[in-house]
Amino acid sequence: MIELRSDTFTLPTQEMLEAIPKAALGDDIYGEDPTVKQLEALAAKMLGKEAAIFMPSGTMANLASLMAHCPRGSKVLVGNETDIYIYEAGGAAVCGGIMYEPIPTQPDGRLLIEDLEKAFPDDTTDPQFALPSLITIENPHNRMGGKVLPLSYLAEVQAFAKSKGLPVHMDGARIFNASIALDVPVAEVAQYADSIQFCLSKGLSAPVGSMVVGTAEFIEKVYRLRKMLGGGMRQSGLLAAAGIISLEKMVNRLADDHANARRLAAGLAETPGIEVDMDVPTNIVFFRVTAAGFTWQRFVEECYAAGLNIAELGHGRIRAVTHSGITEQDIDQALEIIRQVLSTEKVLSV
Ligand SMILES: Cc1ncc(COP(=O)(O)O)c(C=O)c1O
Repeated sequence: MIELRSDTFTLPTQEMLEAIPKAALGDDIYGEDPTVKQLEALAAKMLGKEAAIFMPSGTMANLASLMAHCPRGSKVLVGNETDIYIYEAGGAAVCGGIMYEPIPTQPDGRLLIEDLEKAFPDDTTDPQFALPSLITIENPHNRMGGKVLPLSYLAEVQAFAKSKGLPVHMDGARIFNASIALDVPVAEVAQYADSIQFCLSKGLSAPVGSMVVGTAEFIEKVYRLRKMLGGGMRQSGLLAAAGIISLEKMVNRLADDHANARRLAAGLAETPGIEVDMDVPTNIVFFRVTAAGFTWQRFVEECYAAGLNIAELGHGRIRAVTHSGITEQDIDQALEIIRQVLSTEKVLSV
């Protein structure tokens, strides 16, 4: 099976599997797991922030970050196509008493400053209004096709947030894909946000885990919230050992995933019955099936039966995500399967 549903399907590398049993361990809730400490120090250094904390998932990393930034009864400004708004089970509202203010998302993943501005009441002293306490951005933007936010735009958001006295949180689940696409150190992308969550368990291929980075004071708050949310872990150095290899060895190879994603998009563009978004800066390709007689459901099912696993991800669009388990040959085979599924013979037999 060629697995293109997500980069979360990546398996730990041989080097990770060898590092795990050798990891020095302690109880991390006592702050005594040296491997977790090593991972946290490495993440903070790479992203150019004071401190970092190892979290069990991207969802908990975002949730704890939002709760650390936002007082109960305040609003978080969040893109209406983001993971935080769509896929995180409303956690900030449930656990944090935080109100989501969904902001329209542009096709390139940006939230317009003028749209952010509209979320602020004219009179912030009027007690009727819930007040914004945080701006969040997703970079790269998953549901917008892995689009990378330009550094100039990040600077604009930062300046706007500053003018309003608010912090910025970046859901950078795939921030290393952004840094590779922009060809800049990841700290250059990270400098525009006060806090960032990024995932070790996606393209970086670790089995479990995400990091939150920010100031030492902020990370202290996240540390308390992680415990409260049930995310304190004991000998989590077993997982952190894999995360260290993610950061040390798995970043530069993301360029291969980007090349494979572009190869897939180029092949899809030449395939009759497919409409593909050709702007593919990272590892995510979105396309639609326009061939007569095909719904996306039928197409996905027939691809699956032929050995290609892909999925719909909003608005009838199909998403394909490249990762370390996918080779150039897999992409060519995936294209072959798609062409066979859409073959004239099949369409005529509908
Ligand atoms: C952009 C983005 N943020 C956050 C998450 C959540 O990460 P996790 O699945 O580790 O909770 C995902 C997961 O797919 C994601 O794509």
